Amino acid sequence: MVGAEELRRFVNALPDHVLVVVDEAYREYVDDPTAADGIALAAQHSNVVALRTFSKAYGLAGLRVGYLVGAPQIVDVVRRLGIPFGVSALAQAAALASLTPTAREELHERVTAVVRERERVHTFLEATGISLPRSHANFLYLPVGDLSARYAAACQERGVLVRPCPEGALRVTIGTAAENDQFLKAVLDVSPSVGAR
Ligand SMILES: Cc1ncc(COP(=O)(O)O)c(C=O)c1O
Repeated sequence: MVGAEELRRFVNALPDHVLVVVDEAYREYVDDPTAADGIALAAQHSNVVALRTFSKAYGLAGLRVGYLVGAPQIVDVVRRLGIPFGVSALAQAAALASLTPTAREELHERVTAVVRERERVHTFLEATGISLPRSHANFLYLPVGDLSARYAAACQERGVLVRPCPEGALRVTIGTAAENDQFLKAVLDVSPSVGAR
């Protein structure tokens, strides 16, 4: 997570002609009040734009819809460079429906559930001796080093798809409680002594 002050210092240190694009794909999962807010920053700096997506917390990845917030002169150029009719009518309708008060309530519930599961899985992993950075998104990053291949194989055997990252790490997306349990079982397959503790 990037803090508001940290990002502000970064932007202030740059010349005005350098465009800063803040990708906030996971912003809905962040509940830390010290976090940066790209949209607020874009309102104050004409060389900052924020990107948000409906692919993550909103669950509309297949519809390919998101948005950019920035100064009119930048938005105008992006519009001219974008693919004509790049966002389908269906995607537009779904995105607008996602912003209604009822849908926002549902979003809040879904995000809360993911965050709760994320913390449960995090705590379990720490108990197994895996030290991992705190996540502010809907996935965990496990720097498991040489064990990454064994974890990946154990996950695959249990039908869990995890993404290997460079330098022996795994990126694991938080799913439902039952899906996460499958993943934790795979972790125990590699480190069985933990389950006995
Ligand atoms: C940091 C980040 N930005 C953007 C995206 C993609 O968003 P979209 O589906 O809107 O292209 C992802 C998806 O994995 C992501 O991890």
